[in-house]
Amino acid sequence: MGSGIAHVLALAGIDVDLVDVERGVLDRAVASVSSELRRQVAKGKLTETEASAALSRIRPSTDLRVAAGAGVVVEAATEDVGLKLDIFANVGEIASSDAILASNTSAISITRLASAVPRPDRVIGMHFMNPVPVMQLVEVIRGLQTSDATADHTTALCRDLGKTPVTVNDYPGFVSNRVLMPMINEAVYCVMEGVAEPGAVDQIMKLGMAHPMGPLRLADLIGLDVCLAILKVLQRDLGDPKYRPCPLLARMVAAGRLGRKSGQGFHDYGAKEPSPAAARARQAAG
Ligand code: CAA
Repeated sequence: MGSGIAHVLALAGIDVDLVDVERGVLDRAVASVSSELRRQVAKGKLTETEASAALSRIRPSTDLRVAAGAGVVVEAATEDVGLKLDIFANVGEIASSDAILASNTSAISITRLASAVPRPDRVIGMHFMNPVPVMQLVEVIRGLQTSDATADHTTALCRDLGKTPVTVNDYPGFVSNRVLMPMINEAVYCVMEGVAEPGAVDQIMKLGMAHPMGPLRLADLIGLDVCLAILKVLQRDLGDPKYRPCPLLARMVAAGRLGRKSGQGFHDYGAKEPSPAAARARQAAG
C-alpha cells in the first residue's frame, strides 16, 4: 500500500521520500505508480505534465534517515507489531520532534506504537484502503495520547489528498476491520465447510448484496496473510472466540497462497514464482 500512498501524496503536490529496506521493492513501487499515472493520462484524467511532476516528487530511498526532513511520516510496513515498533522507535529518534508519525496499520494498536516514541501525542493512525488511489476513505485512528492538533492536521491532510477522513478511537481492528474481517472469515468457512465454491460465495455477495467485489476476491486483494494477521489481533485483543481465524485461511497462508500478490488465493491470478512475501508469510504462519 506504500506505493499507493506515495501516489496520492505526490499527486496532491507533496514531496515524498519512499523508504523500503529492499531496492527491488522500491523499483517495483515506482514502476507501479508510473504505470498507474500513465493510465490516468491515457484516460484524460491527468495531463502528461501533471503525471511527470507527480512522479518526480517521489524519491525512493533505502535510508530511513531521510525521515529527518519529513513533516509527516506514514509507516506502511507488514502487519507485524515487533517490526512496526522497531520502525517507530527509529523514526522517533530521527524525525523532528513536531513531525506527525502516522501508521497505516490495519489493526495494530496506535497507542502501543506511540509508546515507542518520545512524543506519543504526535502519533496517529492513517488507515488507507486498498486500492489507495481509488478508495475514498481514510480511517483516522486516535491513540490514547494523540493530541487534538495532531488529529486536526491529519484530517486536513486527508482532505488535501481528496480523501474523506473518518475519525475513530484506538480499539482492536478499529471499525473497518472489526466489521469487514468477520465477513471475510465467514466466507472462508463457507468454502471450508463445502457450502459453496469461492466463485459462488463471491457472486452471492456481489449480486445479492451489491458489494463491488465478493469477500474472497477482496481477501485476495488485501492479502490472505494480512487478513489472517488482523483476525489474530481481533481474537487475541478482544478475547472473543467469534474472531477465530478459519483454519482454511491459515492453511492457505502456510501454503504461500496469499492472493493477488502471490498469483493465487481463493482465485487464480496467473502463475508466479513464489514471492519473498509468500516465503515470509509461510514462515510466520508455520
Ligand atoms: N490501483 C489503482 N487503480 C485501480 C486499481 C488499483 N489497484 N484497481 C482498480 N483501479 C481503478 C481502475 O483503473 C478504474 O479506474 P477508472 O474509473 O479511472 O477507469 C477504477 O479503479 C475501477 O476499476 P475497474 O473498472 O477495473 O474495476 P471495478 O469497477 O470492479 O473496481 C475496485 C475495482 C475499485 C477494486 C472495486 O472492485 C472495489 O471498490 N472493490 C472493493 C475494494 C475494497 O473494499 N477495498 C477496501 C479493502 S479493506 C482495506 O484495504 C483495509 C484493510 O485494512 C484490509
